[in-house]
Amino acid sequence: MSSPLFPQHVIAIKRDGAALTREEIQSMVRGATDGSWADYQLSAMLMAIFLRGMTIEETVALTDAMMRSGEVADLSRVKGPKADKHSTGGVGDKVSLHLAPMIAACGVAVPMISGRGLGHTGGTLDKLESIPGFRVNLSTDEYAAQVGRIGLALIGQTSQLAPADRKLYALRDVTGTVENTPLICASILSKKLAEGADVLVADVKFGRGAFMKDKATARELAQTLVSVARLMGTPMRAILTAMDQPLGRTVGNALEMIESIDCLQGRGPADTMEVTFVLGQEMLLLTRIAKTREEARARLEAAIANGAALKKFREMVTAQGGDVRAIDDTSRLPAAKWSVPLVSPRAGFVQSVDAMSVALAALHLGAGRAKAEDRVDHAVGVSQLVKTGERIGPGAVLAMIHANGEAALAGARALLTGGIVVGEGAVALPPLVEEIIG
Ligand code: URA
Repeated sequence: MSSPLFPQHVIAIKRDGAALTREEIQSMVRGATDGSWADYQLSAMLMAIFLRGMTIEETVALTDAMMRSGEVADLSRVKGPKADKHSTGGVGDKVSLHLAPMIAACGVAVPMISGRGLGHTGGTLDKLESIPGFRVNLSTDEYAAQVGRIGLALIGQTSQLAPADRKLYALRDVTGTVENTPLICASILSKKLAEGADVLVADVKFGRGAFMKDKATARELAQTLVSVARLMGTPMRAILTAMDQPLGRTVGNALEMIESIDCLQGRGPADTMEVTFVLGQEMLLLTRIAKTREEARARLEAAIANGAALKKFREMVTAQGGDVRAIDDTSRLPAAKWSVPLVSPRAGFVQSVDAMSVALAALHLGAGRAKAEDRVDHAVGVSQLVKTGERIGPGAVLAMIHANGEAALAGARALLTGGIVVGEGAVALPPLVEEIIG
């Protein structure tokens, strides 16, 4: 009979820099799920992992144990391939909203479990909830049935999905152990692999408005995600994308929803569509719906041009209780009391649009949350944002500020004025999509 694994012994193994066995990792994850490890023991273990690191085998074992700490969706009854996409989060990143129906329109089911905005990044669920009546809290059974019926569901994390991650993430948040590649990888993949997709694509962002500020750290995370997913039997690719300026021209929940509807109608901003097509191409290649990137791109463009992607989006909104009339008549979405232009005092070239300043302006207006329990204002945010490199005349609108309060408007104006720099010289833009990994 094997001897019981005492938390203090397992912690000491990692503290001394050795690799943990699968059983030791499982005992820690079980302890996080059933409460048999105290918070101080879990916190000590997280710090030991943070300082000593984990091998790829340990990261696989951690991901697997966290995934199995709750329900793993059974989508075996859904016919055909299933793909999902994950973004590490950015400013103005509304890609999931229109990419999911585009992929579903190409014959690939999309079972997507998304998050809410926290801190400076927005969340897909908050954007969807700007559609009156839209329900994101389906049960796992309702979710599986909807994916089977219409090939698409976009919901929030259920309490049964990877509960160990919920516990460990809350502890990481207050113990300075968030920024660690094996822990981030296990956290992301334990949730994504539990939702039942056959293949995964990740958008790993780097830059001023991203979770990871530098490219090298983002690349390391992307490589770890792809390796761990593959070792667990799920083909995956990751793209590295720049997040120094916001994606698209809107930041804020209903405003981003409107921009996503524009994308589905073929009127999306160039940068947003570039990221959308690159992610979509990899999803169609991994599911073997397309043989080449050119073929994949043509299918995605056709899904927009022939209205199939917009039709899928309508089906999803209807299935999840949303007011489908808001898609054609966006005045049915929440709108702010004031829409005020921020005007450029000078002509020239836009030198930079700092994603973090725009995110803070949106947060100040009430579009995001500082704490998980905060409520968001779906109406407020920023639209008509200029893009880095654009030439503008005197008096040009740099952005429209949508506000529901005077103090919030003044604060957002100050943040945007500091974050959008206009100067003399033309600006050379670095590539938006830096690399495809996997
Ligand atoms: N997103 C997650 O889900 N987990 C992390 O650890 C970091 C980002």
